[in-house]
Amino acid sequence: VSKENRKRLVELLSDGEFHSGEQLGEALGVSRASIWKQVKSLLSMGLDIQAVKGRGYRILDGLSLLDANAVHAAFTENTRRYIQCPEVFTQIDSTNQYLLDLLEAGEGKQGLLCFAEQQTAGRGRRGKPWVSPFGKNIYCSLLWHFDKGISALEGLSLVIALSLVKTLEKQGVQELELKWPNDILSKDKKLAGILIEARGDLVDACDVVIGIGINVHMSQQSASAIDQPWVDLYSLQGKKIDRNILVAHLFNQISDDLQQFSSSGFSPFCSEWNEKNSFLDKRVSVSSGKESKRGVCLGVNSQGALLLEIDGRTESFYGGEVSLRKDEE
Ligand code: BTN
Repeated sequence: VSKENRKRLVELLSDGEFHSGEQLGEALGVSRASIWKQVKSLLSMGLDIQAVKGRGYRILDGLSLLDANAVHAAFTENTRRYIQCPEVFTQIDSTNQYLLDLLEAGEGKQGLLCFAEQQTAGRGRRGKPWVSPFGKNIYCSLLWHFDKGISALEGLSLVIALSLVKTLEKQGVQELELKWPNDILSKDKKLAGILIEARGDLVDACDVVIGIGINVHMSQQSASAIDQPWVDLYSLQGKKIDRNILVAHLFNQISDDLQQFSSSGFSPFCSEWNEKNSFLDKRVSVSSGKESKRGVCLGVNSQGALLLEIDGRTESFYGGEVSLRKDEE
């Protein structure tokens, strides 16, 4: 089954109407038997397709798919200068891995952006999987080039988390909070996460893959695999979300913020980040590997490092593999 054909078939079925095997076969230039084979492969991906004798196939309630042209059309002119028209995959292992592979092959270009309707090996921070069911949420990655070295990127994931909060607030989502370094929470439940993977020099040119996962219409069934409290945009807003508009606005914001971050670093974002810090003044534990330290969270400094008051002294922590949690009150 070719990837293009599978994508085209999903597009044809996305209207929620019945399509006969014959019609679909004609549209794709393949036999009815081959359509049935493709439908089976879509069923195994978790798509809700009904097959009714004499009428054909349909997706109950239809699907609103990601559409590269719709996203690109809603980019501002400034965004279009920095971010390319996205590539949309029906299914991929991981959008981050895709861009890392392109970098490895010497084909990674500044501003490449990709989305997937489903990831089969989506990954989160600290080696955890990222649950990525079909057509429900947002999984995307952006490739960005920096010339000041990986060590200058400490604040990057914080900036992106803030871009996401600002975008969602403009769409009317309220009371979002940040958890250092880059979780977006609503009432202590996780709404979105960011995974940044860098390649290149510690002090010189480097490329960064910025991966973003947002829970939009997470289904209960898929959510059983998530090992922490979560929430999705649909339940926060009480209405269906147009994912194409949402991501276009998100990347308009990100493109502005990345330009500012490239020229001025994290400090212009610092106070805004601290205002949204869900852990401010709370007793917390910070752990990396086996080591764990407890203290009171003072927020982040102008480099994006986390500050904790421990026994009357201020200690700073840098991202990477460190994890943070609230202590029992
Ligand atoms: C986390 O909070 O643990 C980070 C989650 C990051 C998930 C996104 S989904 C798109 C991109 N591709 C991946 O494999 N992961 C990131």
